[in-house]
Amino acid sequence: MEKSEALKRITELSELIRHHNYLYYQQDAPEITDFAFDSLLKELEILEKQFPEFIDPNSPTQRVGGEITRVFKSVKHKYPMLSLDNTYSEGELKDFDNRVQKILNEPYDFVGELKIDGVSISLTYESGKLVKAITRGDGVQGDDVTTNVRTILSIPLALPDNEYPAEFEVRGEIYMPRSGFDKMNQQREETGEQIFANPRNATSGTLKTQDSSIVAQRPLEAFFYFLAGDGIDASSHYERLNLLKKWGFRICDIRTRVNNISGIIDFINEVGEGRKHLDFDIDGVVIKVDSIRQQERLGFTSKSPRWAIAYKFQAEEAITRLLSIDYQVGRTGVVTPVANLEPVLLAGTVVKRATLHNADVISALDVRVGDFVHVEKGGEIIPKITSVNFSSRHAASVPTDFISVCPECGSELEKIEGESAWYCPNEKSCPPQIKGKLEHFISRKAMNIDSLGEGKIEVLFDQGLVRLPADLYDLQYDQLLNIEKVLPGESGKPGKKISFREKTVENILNGINNSKEVPFERVLFALGIRLVGETVAKKLARHFVSLEKLLNSKYEDLVQIDEIGDKIAQSLLSYFAADENINHINRLIEAGLKMETEADETTTRGVLKGKTFVVSGVFEHFSRDGIKQSIEKNGGKVNSSISSKTDFVLAGENMGPEKRRKAENSGVKIISEEDYLGMIGPEISE
Ligand code: IVH
Repeated sequence: MEKSEALKRITELSELIRHHNYLYYQQDAPEITDFAFDSLLKELEILEKQFPEFIDPNSPTQRVGGEITRVFKSVKHKYPMLSLDNTYSEGELKDFDNRVQKILNEPYDFVGELKIDGVSISLTYESGKLVKAITRGDGVQGDDVTTNVRTILSIPLALPDNEYPAEFEVRGEIYMPRSGFDKMNQQREETGEQIFANPRNATSGTLKTQDSSIVAQRPLEAFFYFLAGDGIDASSHYERLNLLKKWGFRICDIRTRVNNISGIIDFINEVGEGRKHLDFDIDGVVIKVDSIRQQERLGFTSKSPRWAIAYKFQAEEAITRLLSIDYQVGRTGVVTPVANLEPVLLAGTVVKRATLHNADVISALDVRVGDFVHVEKGGEIIPKITSVNFSSRHAASVPTDFISVCPECGSELEKIEGESAWYCPNEKSCPPQIKGKLEHFISRKAMNIDSLGEGKIEVLFDQGLVRLPADLYDLQYDQLLNIEKVLPGESGKPGKKISFREKTVENILNGINNSKEVPFERVLFALGIRLVGETVAKKLARHFVSLEKLLNSKYEDLVQIDEIGDKIAQSLLSYFAADENINHINRLIEAGLKMETEADETTTRGVLKGKTFVVSGVFEHFSRDGIKQSIEKNGGKVNSSISSKTDFVLAGENMGPEKRRKAENSGVKIISEEDYLGMIGPEISE
């Protein structure tokens, strides 16, 4: 291809991709399939590889991350990022209204918006291109996190038309949706990685991650609420938000414009009631005077604007004393500090323990045994310590030193660079790691040996009968019969008594025997290989079909599989390189576990068996990926374009006109989401 031709096509493709990104993320109304979208992206990638001189830093291909930031550069904000005054009562809101009234002495409108509980960010655009993304920092200067922010797909890298000023700044909040957060934490738990305390921590931790390809995989989102610059064609805040929306920025649509403070109070009450249904955390409502001219008249104090105020919802909080810190060792060896608290009533339950996450959190809080601490229960289930009451600290208190040896086996703890967690490296003989691995092996999503739950693993371990999962398959009836043990209970008291009578032993042995029927993908998951969670195990099992093929695979074979990256590949290779792991696997093979995907697992079954679908548009009950997964789960196949093989076109809202025409012309049956739900039946629909 000629250079000029390449440049033309690159520009064309970039614009097309941007347009479809906008339809997908901002309008929720995609016009092309994921496949068609990916093809455009692939074409652009290929051209850019051939003609690297034409790679625009704002090209849609530059989002996948990969760039490493060693130290985030500290950058001064053009306009300081001030904070907001907080209020917690209607009375204080009325005081705010009175202050505004007194200064303006003319009618004014208020805008009410959600106060998103994320991490604030300032984006600078020049000639419509994103050039800088800076965190709030201390308000005067923040960290340059541009590389990481570029990976957030809904943030426009380049704006579609020319109506924007040559240079402007937008501010907003980066956050992690609760659904994405839960999914991510679940995966982290499965792979033994430390879970994040809440979406806000996950967001700020992610933004400070050095490897932008990791950021690209995290479900970050953003809402924008502020636009500044010269020559902006909108004289009110509300209109500026509309303008931002038009340019492709995500704006939270839950907002109101009213002409008095009681309208704001109504809005606050509505939001307070509905907040639990939102897919993101908020900690209040922000109230702003709408007119920019009036905002300018009101001006700023040294800390905050006089034209805005935050109404914060009361967090459920209590103050109690930190009695001691325990250190728990998980199945992968990660050591987690847990606070023992003087019992206190919080949000209707008695709280005795709170997680302290890791050594970094302990030193950031400077929390010490004997301190009075603030405990909060937000959206998350585990209560957290948010701060220390320093004024009531005992003079003799000593700073908390994170332990340096494993509380369970005495091994010296180790730290992986760039991570906050300390690990006990004694994988093979540290008891909680051994027991943790066994518990993982028998768990429901792995080998599902439920007759072994609730303390029985502890007993088997204690009796010296089981160390490795393969030992389970050697257990004999006589070894188990009449074993008795009293498990340790709370605060040193004796707990539950476990006795292995005939029936129990039979159940245990049956459960173990039945697990030999568990499909290969779950056996693979049960092995507890670092980073190999349920989904990855499934992918590997489907791809390689047998353990043997997986064992013979090379790095290049692994990383070419969708969603298997460098880290997972390394983890697999190092697991399979260890002789003891291979010996263990051989014992499991001898025991008769399935090490191959059976034919009927790879071929389809279910109510949609043999049916091929093409999916288009947006759905009410499913995300786009969700509906595809549902089809596959029920035995159907999904194709990206209509052909003679297509049985149904599943049409959502805003199905692309091109696709509809094609479907109608080819005589393929077009069905609605409702038809589809009818086909799969209620019990298997998502
Ligand atoms: S306006 C000068 N609007 O709250 C006014 N802030 O306590 C700038 N925040 O640092 C802020 N949602 O991180 C504004 N709708 C919203 C907001 C919001 C969340 C955060 C923001 C700011 C902090 C102030």
